[in-house]
Amino acid sequence: MDFKERFTQDIIIEKFSLGEIPIAEAFNKLFKVDEINIGHSYERRVYREEKSLNLKPVDNIERSKEKNREEKEQLKNLLEEMDELIGLEEVKRIIKEYIAFIKVQKLRESYNLKTAPVVMHMIFKGNPGTGKTTMARIIGKIFKEIGYLKGGELIEVERADLVGEYIGHTAQKTKKVLERALGGVLFIDEAYSLARGGEKDFGKECIDTLVKGMEDYKDRLIIILAGYRNEMDYFLKTNPGLASRFAIQIDFPDYSLEELVQIAELMYKEREYILDEKSKHYIYRVLSELRNKELINGNARTVRNLVERSIRQHARRIIKLENISRNDLLYIRKEDLLGEEGKNEEMPCNRDAQCR
Ligand SMILES: Nc1ncnc2c1ncn2[C@@H]1O[C@H](COP(=O)(O)OP(=O)(O)OP(=O)(O)O)[C@@H](O)[C@H]1O
Ligand SMILES: [Mg+2]
Repeated sequence: MDFKERFTQDIIIEKFSLGEIPIAEAFNKLFKVDEINIGHSYERRVYREEKSLNLKPVDNIERSKEKNREEKEQLKNLLEEMDELIGLEEVKRIIKEYIAFIKVQKLRESYNLKTAPVVMHMIFKGNPGTGKTTMARIIGKIFKEIGYLKGGELIEVERADLVGEYIGHTAQKTKKVLERALGGVLFIDEAYSLARGGEKDFGKECIDTLVKGMEDYKDRLIIILAGYRNEMDYFLKTNPGLASRFAIQIDFPDYSLEELVQIAELMYKEREYILDEKSKHYIYRVLSELRNKELINGNARTVRNLVERSIRQHARRIIKLENISRNDLLYIRKEDLLGEEGKNEEMPCNRDAQCR
């Protein structure tokens, strides 16, 4: 293919990928590439193309390019939001791989090359507070941005939202949830509980409806089944049909001490608070003690509770000051964290009011 043909094809494909011309029109025009007489300057070339192909004026290309730039910017922001999450390197890598894969499939389609179906249903295995819901929410937004999903919203449900009380009720309930989730992400927490009661349980009806929904609404939603690692492995073993339908299985490991400290720092930063030097060391000690006593059973959730408690404690402390400075408002001090090392999230003292 010579330069002239290549150039013309590229413009047609760009217009098609920007949604300016439908696929049929793009193909028609692609077969007419030889008729186009290309001049020397870029503008003249574009003008002639516009004329001979009867496409929209150059202005529109600029506007579409602008739209394209905005979309790229938006995707960049979302990827940054994902990268800001501490750890979770494996998840980030898999998601980026799929973004590239979907983009390439779209490009191949525009060149009339064979494409592979992209099925994005996933299994998330991990303990509470390991970032599963947070990641699912970002995935929804990212896959909307690259055009895989229409809306990108996350709908989070659990067994009680899907399973009914009489024969036929479950299918109805599950179908409604599936329809509500169309265009976005359906996140089913503690999904293993759907297999709880065995063959006679309505959970089975729910799974069957989900599987049917996956066929009917093939690429119109992403279903994510989440839950503890062992329970999910057992669940998938008892449902081999499900395992094969969920090609993407991701582990969410517990956070290391260093990661927990970084998560705490990030949470303060997001809320526009700063840990002073002493409180930075102290929070490390607190988290390390909680970990040693195996009291961190909520991973990042435990950290979030701790951060939020300290922010309330900070407010109680500074409100008593005569003059409150900007620095008073900004800095978390060690005394705002005192007593945290003994907290047990699973005990009744879990609730803040009872803890103080
Ligand atoms: N890697 C991370 N970096 C920063 N913040 C995180 C990270 N992982 C989780 N968080 C924060 O911790 C809190 C709990 O996370 P999330 O709800 O995503 O966990 P989960 O795995 O869905 O837990 P559960 O199973 O209990 O629903 C959220 O406030 C989230 O923003
Ligand atoms: Mg969750």
